[in-house]
Amino acid sequence: MDKKFKRIGVLTSGGDSPGMNAAVRAVVRTAIAQGIQCIGIRRGWQGLITSDFVPLDAASVGHILSRGGTILYTARSEDFMSEKGRLKAVSTCKMLGLDGIVAIGGDGTFRGALELSRLGIPTVGVPATIDNDIGCTNYTIGFDTACNTAIDCIDRLRDTMQSHERCSVVEVMGRNAGFLALYVGIAVGATAVLVPERELDLERDVIERIRNARLAGATHFMIVVAEGVGSAVEIGKQIQDAIGISPRVTVLGHIQRGGSPNARDRETATRMGYFAVKAMSEGRYNCIIGTRGGDLVETPIEEALAMKKHLQMDRYEVLETVSVTTPAFTMPAR
Ligand code: F6P
Repeated sequence: MDKKFKRIGVLTSGGDSPGMNAAVRAVVRTAIAQGIQCIGIRRGWQGLITSDFVPLDAASVGHILSRGGTILYTARSEDFMSEKGRLKAVSTCKMLGLDGIVAIGGDGTFRGALELSRLGIPTVGVPATIDNDIGCTNYTIGFDTACNTAIDCIDRLRDTMQSHERCSVVEVMGRNAGFLALYVGIAVGATAVLVPERELDLERDVIERIRNARLAGATHFMIVVAEGVGSAVEIGKQIQDAIGISPRVTVLGHIQRGGSPNARDRETATRMGYFAVKAMSEGRYNCIIGTRGGDLVETPIEEALAMKKHLQMDRYEVLETVSVTTPAFTMPAR
């Protein structure tokens, strides 16, 4: 007979992302609609160890759909790495009568979920990270909002770079992945985008592209660097040494993680939160929810963690082809 879920916990863990609150809201309200009580675990896996919790009803998640951050707080728990910590988490689940946990976060969150599921607690993961680097899903909650935030910042930078005829080197987040950088780079028409998935050749990837752009008449340049490549300050110095221009470096940093989630993130988070509780209550747990095409699917956690998400290099080609200004057409002399 299927396991009966009477009370579940929900937590957010790892780096926050816009739309986490929308997912929490959907989990709580879907659970309540199914006659399941919901307990919010604060500060991610750490809160499960320290019994840091808050009962959630439908009203307590009102007015959070549009809010960035996470009302449940988030953390990266060292204690959860040890067996002692995890056993403590299991005893908190027992003490609170939790029949399952919905964990909202990224890769590290799901590694925690796998460990917990191995200790007999049913878990379902909901992917939320601005890095979009989770193999089992095309999309992670927060990515689109973060891209738009970065684009807005870079558009502003471009205004001043254009006025002063300067080169801008902008570092965006993404951990070890270049999804954010490449997507943003295409959307701002960057002169060059550096991603960790492609071995850096400064001459080919940056210097030559600046020279070509200059020859074509460009007087300002926008270089987008994924943090996984290295420091933008360092890249800026290398550009200066190579061609003598003095780039202005901007590290966008945590600004990319804040702000009100946009339509895509609110909608995706709401559907994923709903789907996570439905899946769990229908006996499909120890899995991660993901998008494939327009649909939501579940993948067993272990399998999901082994899946690698590849940066679409054809998009890199798109950028290289379209972003570069080709030399102005000159009428042949008569
Ligand atoms: O994983 C999300 C992320 O924002 C990464 O892009 C970044 O490398 C990291 O978290 C930053 O983490 P922290 O908040 O600990 O500085």
